[in-house]
Amino acid sequence: MRLYNVDHVGIAVFDLDAALSDYERLYGVFPLYRETVEAQGVEEAMIPVGGSFVQLLQPLSADSPVGRFLASRGEGLHHLAFAVDDIEVALSELAEQGARLVDTVPRSGGRGARIAFVHPSTLGGTLVELVELSHDH
Ligand code: CO
Repeated sequence: MRLYNVDHVGIAVFDLDAALSDYERLYGVFPLYRETVEAQGVEEAMIPVGGSFVQLLQPLSADSPVGRFLASRGEGLHHLAFAVDDIEVALSELAEQGARLVDTVPRSGGRGARIAFVHPSTLGGTLVELVELSHDH
């Protein structure tokens, strides 16, 4: 597999509007996409910075992965996302290396991408997301 970009850094927030206004006021940056991703139980906003994004995640309910993360850890860094060209190849290579996969099969992410998560126990506490971008973007 080849990682060709840090696609985004995912940040968990309680209030997406408040967080977006902080990013705008402090850093002068704005979201390019904002969408509800039911499959992940989040409303997300993607703020472009250079060739990567900051992804702000607000849970749709307390009983969702990001909702539970916020309850136990509070706001802040949630995951690191790498862009890959072939997500199936990446998952099978990781499995061969003994990585603990949260998703053995890719699922739908924002922007029409296919994504899969790798458990934080595999990489020193960092949850990693693999992203295979849609060719429409
Ligand atoms: Co993400």
